Order: sequence, then C-alpha cells, then structure tokens
Amino acid sequence: MTSPPHGMAMINAFDPAAATALSPRERAMVERRQRLLGPAYRLFYENPLHLVRGEGAWLFDAEGRRYLDCYNNVASLGHAHPRVVEAIAAQAARLNTHTRYLHDTVLDLAEALLATLPPALGPGTGHVMFTCTGSEANDLALRIARAHTGGEGIVVTALAYHGVTASLAELSPSLGEGVPLGRHVATVPAPDAYRGGPDMPARFAADIAAAFAGLARHGIRPCALLVDTMFTSDGVFPDPAGFLAEAAAAARAAGALFIADEVQPGFGRTGGMWGFERHGAEPDIVTMGKPMGNGHPVAGLAIRPELLERFGSRARYFNTFGGNPVSAAAALAVLHVLRDEALPANAATIGTRLLAGLRSLATRHEILGDVRGAGLSIGAELVQDLATKEPATAETTRIVNALRERGVLISASGPGANILKIRPPLCLSAEQADLFLDTLDAVL
Ligand SMILES: Cc1ncc(COP(=O)(O)O)c(C=O)c1O
Repeated sequence: MTSPPHGMAMINAFDPAAATALSPRERAMVERRQRLLGPAYRLFYENPLHLVRGEGAWLFDAEGRRYLDCYNNVASLGHAHPRVVEAIAAQAARLNTHTRYLHDTVLDLAEALLATLPPALGPGTGHVMFTCTGSEANDLALRIARAHTGGEGIVVTALAYHGVTASLAELSPSLGEGVPLGRHVATVPAPDAYRGGPDMPARFAADIAAAFAGLARHGIRPCALLVDTMFTSDGVFPDPAGFLAEAAAAARAAGALFIADEVQPGFGRTGGMWGFERHGAEPDIVTMGKPMGNGHPVAGLAIRPELLERFGSRARYFNTFGGNPVSAAAALAVLHVLRDEALPANAATIGTRLLAGLRSLATRHEILGDVRGAGLSIGAELVQDLATKEPATAETTRIVNALRERGVLISASGPGANILKIRPPLCLSAEQADLFLDTLDAVL
C-alpha cells in the first residue's frame, strides 16, 4: 500500500506545531479545538480557514473575506441553497420521526431516486435503504453483499477511501499505514491512464481478477468489488470511459458483486446523474451520500431486489435517523433543484470549460503533466518532469496554499500528493470558472 509521502495520512493538513504563525484569535481557536476535540482531527491549509457563511459557490470567513469554493462535494447545489433550507425548515417545524411510521416523503424520495437509476435497480424494480452517512451506506452494502455471496473478500483500489466505521477503515488504504487493512481485503493499483497507457483497462480488470484469486487461495471467498466510480482519493481517474464495465465484469466472473460508491461522484457531479453511467457499467449496489442532502446528513443505497432477499429475511434493519422525514425532505429538494436548475448539464458545460482552460495552462506551465476529469470532478497532476512524471509534491502543497491565500479553495490527492483535486459546487458559473483559471495561472 502506498501512503502519502509526507508521512501524514492526510494531504493538505494543517500542522498544529505551526499554530504560532496564526493570529491570536485563530491560535486560541486551534488550541481550544485541540483541547476539546483531541488529536485525531485535521484542519485544511497551512493557514486554516474560519468560515462563517456560504452562498452559491462563495464562502465567507469571520473577517468577511470571500473565497471561491472549488472543493465542495457536499453543498453541491451551492451553499445554503434556499429551497433545501426551506424544505428542511418546513418539515422540522411539522414533524420528525423515523421509518417505523408510515410517511409519504421517504417513499417519494425512494421513487424519485429509483427513477434516476438503470432498469435493474430502477423504477418498479429496485429497493432503496436509507442511512445518515456514506460510511453507513457502504457498511450496510457490505453486510448485504456478504449475506448474498457468502463470501468476505473485498477488492478496493490502492488509495481508496470508503468511510469511517471499523469495517470501512480496514478497506480504506488512503487512511495510511497507521490503519491496517483487513485480512479479507486486497488492493489493486488505481486505474491510472496517465501512467498506465492504453493497456490500463485490460490490466485493471486483470488485476481485479488476480486479487480475488489471491484471496480465494487463502480461503477467502469473493464478496465485492467496491470502487468510487471517479477514483477521487486515488487521484481522479475518469478515462477512458467504459473501463469500469470491464472491471465490473471481472468482479462478477469471480463471483463478487460490483458496488459503485457514488458518495463523491453521484448527484450530477460528473455531468450525468451517476459516475458509473459514463462507463456503461451496471452496479449491483449503488451507495450514495454527501451531496444527497446538500449539507444535511442523508445517505443510502439502491440495490437489485434479489440481492437483498437473504439479508432481508434474516436481519431486521432500523436506523433511527436514516430516512427520517426531515432528511427525506432535504434529499427530495436536492433532486428537484438538480432537475429545475439543470445542474448536471451545468457541471458538464463548466467542466468542459475548466478542462479546456487547464489544458491551455498546461501549454505554458510545464509542471501541469496531466489534466483529466468528468463534469466538475477534475484532477490536474503536477510533475517535476514531463518525461519521468516524477510527482511535484512540495510544489502542489505550495500551489494549494497559495490559491487559498488568493481566495480560491481546492485540495490535492494521489499517492504522490501531487494531483490538484478540483470539485466546485455544480452551480459554478463561467465567470467563476475563469476566476479559478486566472488565479491558478497567476499562482503557477
Ligand atoms: C468515496 C467515499 N465513500 C464514502 C465516504 C464516507 O462518507 P461519510 O463521510 O459520509 O461517512 C466518503 C467520504 O469522504 C467518500 O469519499
């Protein structure tokens, strides 16, 4: 397993030892956090942000300074979207209970979600189950997959992140060497077309087959291939569209299910509703979260019904807050806004503009080795040398922090901590996209 080269398990993390460089007010806040929240939390940036308000793609700090948010994969309709705020407030003022009472909103939400999914999981066929977080959704998907397959073996990519529970931390290698992988977990190299060339799709599928075979040799039967369909924490790997279908086929041939983790790419980010659509891949289970409530915690999964039979007949499922009417109202409002404001189409248009702009910057700034993305999920890989592709790790940290100082927020990912991760809200305008490009140009 590869971990970020700077020895910390998180890229772009604030170093508390540098707190002395902060203003007295921020230093006091950092110290208070350390005292109250303990040592496991991380802040972003060398100079952490103290944000107090958001609107659209803008964030405002305690001094009233404005930042262009090019990183937010949660408030993806735009910060504090009025229709979502109104839906939450109206339902909270009326009633909040749980799924042990009849309530229309959770059913309306399930129906609306299924309408966005392919036939095998979709309207009149699929089931939806609700949780509060993406981690819970993945955890539930794994329990269901284990019940269905009778296997335990899970294959993930080399720097995957799938969540925070015990069962997911042990299959999230991006958490670093301090968090060991489970013995039922095998990793495969990320589907990196920049370094892997045209053979990548076939090799990725072969690696998956070999990983399941390796587990089986040790008595661990196949359960699931679990991937973020944009491979965000691995470094954003969208292309060539279609390679994921080949990978899913390899998993199925081994007897495993294909679970598409749409917690990052889902809900319009890639220009379509779901990340797997670009690949023509049909998942057995789709997990979702993050942007599903535009900042309100709501998550879940959609599944082919026959896969749920064994789990459903043996286990009772109740999640106190999963699918509560307030969360369901938030998620339903998100689906309506995505449709009414045509945000997936905007993500496609503005994403194309950003990719073209970044590629144009790459002709003048040799450090930009590769630019890739789908919709508003974009990676820009920084290298020391275009021929050797050696990661420009230190430069990447400087660029991310310099952008922050100039009022533009992004972060980085990848094994070399050298891939700019650009993930603005889906409402980003052409002017805001150009502001991002101009600021990056100046920083480079
Ligand atoms: C791909 C992916 N899956 C799952 C999760 C876990 O979601 P949550 O933090 O809501 O538990 C994340 C969170 O970053 C994620 O990026």
